[in-house]
Amino acid sequence: NSTRSLSTSATLKAIQNVTVIGAGTMGAGIAQVSAAAGNNVRLVDVNDKVLDNSRKGIETSLGRIAKKLFKDDPAKGTEFAKQAIERITFMTEREKSVETADLVIEAIIENLKLKQDLFAALDAAAPQKTIFASNTSSIPINEIAQPTNRKDRFGGLHFFSPVPMMKLLEVIRTAETSDETYKAMDAWGKSIGKVTVSCKDTPGFIVNRLLIPYMTEAVRMVERGDATPQDVDLAMKLGAGYPMGPFELSDAVGVDVGLFIAEGWEKRFPNDPTFKVPELTRKLVKEGKLGRKSGEGWYKYGDKK
Ligand code: 3HC
Repeated sequence: NSTRSLSTSATLKAIQNVTVIGAGTMGAGIAQVSAAAGNNVRLVDVNDKVLDNSRKGIETSLGRIAKKLFKDDPAKGTEFAKQAIERITFMTEREKSVETADLVIEAIIENLKLKQDLFAALDAAAPQKTIFASNTSSIPINEIAQPTNRKDRFGGLHFFSPVPMMKLLEVIRTAETSDETYKAMDAWGKSIGKVTVSCKDTPGFIVNRLLIPYMTEAVRMVERGDATPQDVDLAMKLGAGYPMGPFELSDAVGVDVGLFIAEGWEKRFPNDPTFKVPELTRKLVKEGKLGRKSGEGWYKYGDKK
């Protein structure tokens, strides 16, 4: 319908107001890179404590980036970081947060029901033109979009951790995502400095579909006693050119985060051995060894979490 394509074309010209729901590591990173690129950002979570933590993380990360970008002019670096953080409004009112949004990106926990409930509420509160996107790692976008009346203006924007450092953005279109929506999401991704790739709405998109089975295989190797985590990590760094080995990466992303994705797929594809979750990973998570954030995962971190 022509009204729809008109309004989405208007969005294509300028995604300027971005709302990010979920202020955890990913959401904070997405808010940060959008603000640093000049967008007006609203970052939403359930309470002020989460938002405070998030603000601190963003300030630290912006400080590191500013130091690098403005090596010879620290005052300019300080100004850059200040301006970026000032473009972010930290808030808890989710309906209000989308009132003027051109783009809403959801980065809450990997739970289909919670995501559907969230988008149903936002669908009623957001303007017609607003594009909705999920940063899900592993849940089909078309299922998340189900309760909304804007399936043509719904897609996936999948970022990588740490968001400010990782250049890639996967732009996901479902069977119902319109061309205008896809183009607007892709253009926005490029405008915030990411390199975009396009992928259909398939499990794990490109990166996680390859990365999760690879990491699972590494755990199986250790379970069988074939090699230690240290040797596997060293081997993949020096023999395959990865910046981190699979166990270091698991600790950096969160052992529980990887497990959550893997368990979701195990349930969806019970007969596919690729998606079988190793017991050793479950055991680690049960023991609270979640990686860097808890001080121990596959490795111990002591004070330098
Ligand atoms: N913010 C700002 N700067 C950061 C940062 C952050 N969050 N993290 C690292 N940096 C900067 C450091 O300041 C440092 O800058 P410098 O070169 O000026 O000193 C630079 O990055 C390098 O950092 P380090 O020396 O500490 O470490 P590395 O050289 O190992 O680089 C890395 C860090 C870029 C994270 C690199 O290790 C890497 O690419 N690792 C792989 C990460 C990866 O694979 N991520 C994908 C995970 S999967 C995923 O996210 C999908 C999800 O759905 C689960």
